[in-house]
Amino acid sequence: MTSLWLASPRDSTTDAFDDGARYDEIIVGAGLTGLVTALLFARAGKKVAVLEARFIGAGATGNTSAKLSLLQGSQLQKIKQHTYQAITQAYVDGNRAAQQWLLEYAQSRDVAVQFRDAISYAATPEGTQTVEREFRVARSVGLDVQLRAELDLPFATYGAVVLPNQAQFDPMAVLEALATDIRKLGGVIVDRTRVTGVTAGPRSRPAVVRTGRGELFADHVHLTTGTPILDRGLYFAKLKPLRSYVTSYAVPGAIPEAMYLSVDAPSRSLRTAPSGDGTQGSGKHASDAHGGSEELLVGGNGHGVGREPSTQLRVDDLREWTERYFPGARLTHSWSAQDYETPHRVPFVGYLPRGRGAIYLATGYDKWGMTNGVVAALTLVSDILGDSPPWATAMHHRATLPAALGSGLGAGAAVGWWAAKGWAGALLGPRVDDLPRPGERQGLIGRSGIRPVGVSTVNSTTCAVSGVCPHLGGVLTWNAAETSWDCPLHGSRFSATGELLEGPAVRDLAQK
Ligand code: FES
Repeated sequence: MTSLWLASPRDSTTDAFDDGARYDEIIVGAGLTGLVTALLFARAGKKVAVLEARFIGAGATGNTSAKLSLLQGSQLQKIKQHTYQAITQAYVDGNRAAQQWLLEYAQSRDVAVQFRDAISYAATPEGTQTVEREFRVARSVGLDVQLRAELDLPFATYGAVVLPNQAQFDPMAVLEALATDIRKLGGVIVDRTRVTGVTAGPRSRPAVVRTGRGELFADHVHLTTGTPILDRGLYFAKLKPLRSYVTSYAVPGAIPEAMYLSVDAPSRSLRTAPSGDGTQGSGKHASDAHGGSEELLVGGNGHGVGREPSTQLRVDDLREWTERYFPGARLTHSWSAQDYETPHRVPFVGYLPRGRGAIYLATGYDKWGMTNGVVAALTLVSDILGDSPPWATAMHHRATLPAALGSGLGAGAAVGWWAAKGWAGALLGPRVDDLPRPGERQGLIGRSGIRPVGVSTVNSTTCAVSGVCPHLGGVLTWNAAETSWDCPLHGSRFSATGELLEGPAVRDLAQK
């Protein structure tokens, strides 16, 4: 599954790894958060290095639906429910600053942006109340939203809230511009370099960053990976990892040109994207005389990582839904992204506990990383350079309310249940030698003694790897849609051959 954004040839430049080098700021993860953070530090005269385990944009940024909107489905009422009005206001203020920053940056670098209305709609009669609540919360924090009774869509809707003039773009085009600018200012970006640990303390200044290629040193280290790769602070236990799907289509005839998101389940996200070389700018509409100049993107059907018995059915369902309402739609790409939800629905951004003031993190964007990634970057940089904006100060000092505590406890109980289920299933299941050979794109868990083993077949090649997540021992489940082994506890993912793809784990699976 390769995203529309990653399907085009991209610059694969990487800088040399200078073993033992010292930097002011090391950023771990070359997605939007990491590269904006690096650019802001580089602009401030800091010596920066970005370390990326795979390649630029390999994680959430290269697989997002890339909506740059202050209206975010029903997110604002969820934040208000789990925090309070001042935090909801700070969240929107931060997102507004981030949106502004990104739009100005894109304009300065000639990155194409399409301005579109953002629309949160009800797909069921029950969803109408959610729409109306979102309208009220959005108004209370200064967004100029409107209610709309009807939408010009080929399926039933039951009311919508609309925020005009939001934006969408190709996220990889932004990352490429950021990488170029970081390098122009002397920063380095080293890919295929996995960070395995960071040590910071009174006797370890500067901080030591350990990688598979050697050690680097820095005054500050910023973890801008999807979920922090360090267990300090137990953030892996506070986050709910989620996967969701996006599909893109060439559609004959008219397609809707706004950015839509349903507020009820199953979620449906729609937007358009310029087809071809992606250089078409604002004002190109899919549906009309330009017929075929834009593709339709349809997303949704999310679920907890490793907790869905048939991921392929989720993708197939999106495709069938699209073909039903957009006859003749031809699938061009399908892909998936991983996001992290926090108990209070606002991101964790700031210093890592027991990081001695040298390690910072950003995570938990809850599918809204295009704004929240830049919010995180602006926050991390202002935390160190000073002059934090009021919204960042408010977010740092939020209190935890019972609703957020309840969400956190529920998520913790689910992790315990999946840990027990995985081990019980493996221990009571067949020995690995007794398993049938898995069919194409199939994975099975067996046991060798008491150790779970995962056996899968992909492209006619069968391989066996440890079925136990090296993070904290969750038993992995097979993801047929993406031919990966996924951990239902905290969201680590591995290829069929055991290579670590993402998550709090920092090691590959052992071969069996
Ligand atoms: Fe924590 Fe697998 S990600 S146990």
